[in-house]
Amino acid sequence: MNASPEAVKGSHRSGGATLFALSARSVTKRFPGVLANDDVDFDLAAGEVHTLLGENGAGKSTLASVLCGLYRPDQGAVLRNGTQVRLSSPRHGLQHGIAMVHQHFRLVDRFSVAENVVLGDKRLSFFIDQDSINDRVSRIAEEFGLPIDPLAVVGELSAGQRQRVEIIKALYQGAEILLLDEPTALLAPPEVEKLFETVRTMAKAGKSVVFVSHKLGEVVDISDRITVMRDGKVTGSVGRGEADTRKLAELMVGREIDLSPRKAKAPAGGTMLKLHNVSLHRDGVAVVDNVSLEVRAGEIVGVAGVSGNGQRDLAELVAGLQSPTGGVITVDGREMNGAGTREMRANGLAYVPEDRLGTGLSPSLSIIDNMVLTRPRGLLVDRKAAGAEAERYITELEIKTPSPHTATRKLSGGNSQKVLLAREIFAQSDTTKVLVVCSPTRGLDVGAVETVHKVLDEARTKGKAVLLISEDLDEVLTLADKILVLYRGAVVHSADSNALDIEKVGLAMAGIS
Ligand SMILES: Nc1ncnc2c1ncn2[C@@H]1O[C@H](COP(=O)(O)OP(=O)(O)O)[C@@H](O)[C@H]1O
Ligand SMILES: [Mg+2]
Repeated sequence: MNASPEAVKGSHRSGGATLFALSARSVTKRFPGVLANDDVDFDLAAGEVHTLLGENGAGKSTLASVLCGLYRPDQGAVLRNGTQVRLSSPRHGLQHGIAMVHQHFRLVDRFSVAENVVLGDKRLSFFIDQDSINDRVSRIAEEFGLPIDPLAVVGELSAGQRQRVEIIKALYQGAEILLLDEPTALLAPPEVEKLFETVRTMAKAGKSVVFVSHKLGEVVDISDRITVMRDGKVTGSVGRGEADTRKLAELMVGREIDLSPRKAKAPAGGTMLKLHNVSLHRDGVAVVDNVSLEVRAGEIVGVAGVSGNGQRDLAELVAGLQSPTGGVITVDGREMNGAGTREMRANGLAYVPEDRLGTGLSPSLSIIDNMVLTRPRGLLVDRKAAGAEAERYITELEIKTPSPHTATRKLSGGNSQKVLLAREIFAQSDTTKVLVVCSPTRGLDVGAVETVHKVLDEARTKGKAVLLISEDLDEVLTLADKILVLYRGAVVHSADSNALDIEKVGLAMAGIS
């Protein structure tokens, strides 16, 4: 599966052996009860962008931490330019030009950008020449496309800006090898594109980048090589051009994954959800602007758009959490403007909000209790039946939990999402006519994404009218029979999925149409 050594970009040969900038050889690292890295080999060539791909818990951060000197391996070795180094700390790693940008930033909030960058720099004397530091920070920022004000206070910066500070700090410290741990997790799509430009610039400047990610969709473009991990082991490694998402997904999940489009197999029925010229004005601004749409039984209508273009307000209007300032919303022929969630639910509308912990689940309640939480009051809940039902969802949706009695706050984000979906989709399957789901797979592992897509497809097959509001364009393209693009609260483009011009959709999302 590995490319021949000669084919590896940027590596050089010495005495017949290929020298890599950084390697892990048979690295094993245990935590109590967990084999986090199991005999892992990994090679990074100079000037290479090498992605470490794997689901949550696969062992990526552990390997990156071993490579930067934060953890010492229980067995195995780290090699720098072919020579073993026994890194005793990140500072020691830095002496070898290795720096890691952690998923959770390690900056001092009340310090400025420049102060954070130079923090811990032993070369600086007591008297720091502020101007020259600001200059250096600005120069690095400019060279690598990381715009930032050196004087800004870090506590006031966005996640994307803080990340730039971390990267600038690593470069300031002389890093030749940058380990970026899930750098896109907190970024909006335009920021991701910007980060990718920076990564490309770094590689062109001869630096090597280990790009850690669990997002299959984003890694193919940026990577010269992708190494996949699962359960602490490397399951495969593919070079640029050989990477196909289906194969990568299988390496990640360990089973076949079907990410191909799922569309309605039968003609749609009657209109179940209808919005007619629906608007919501807030502070004189139309955050939802004259939106009309229809969702029929047995179809999925997808609303695409860049985050912050009115998706949340639109969803809340449909779910009855807010009242429109204009227009009419009907569910199964009944006018429902601002009816409130309970009445909406009674009329057959189920809602899966994006903020699943805030408004979706009661974190201190068990899975079972969360499942029955939204049943109509007055109905006696049969606890035994509810327990059996919860068990069934746990199996069907592969929800990872010690028991159905576990509080949902103890579950990972992906598993909470599955509990919420199970409740909204299965538990009310006979009474639900309309299903409104917002970014249902955000932050989920690829195996869970497949499951959720299957569940939504099944809901459609059962004749539900599904409104899918998602910032993930791929998701909308995969599932929806009709696609609308929301921009600044208005529908600026709409098309049937079988007559779709993807370029037009992209332009509409950017507000160009
Ligand atoms: N400091 C730690 N203490 C105990 N267990 C840990 C620690 N760090 C990671 N683990 C465990 O090791 C495994 C791999 O974790 P990690 O390397 O963080 O995976 P990834 O970054 O791929 O999500 C997981 O089961 C995780 O719970
Ligand atoms: Mg991690």
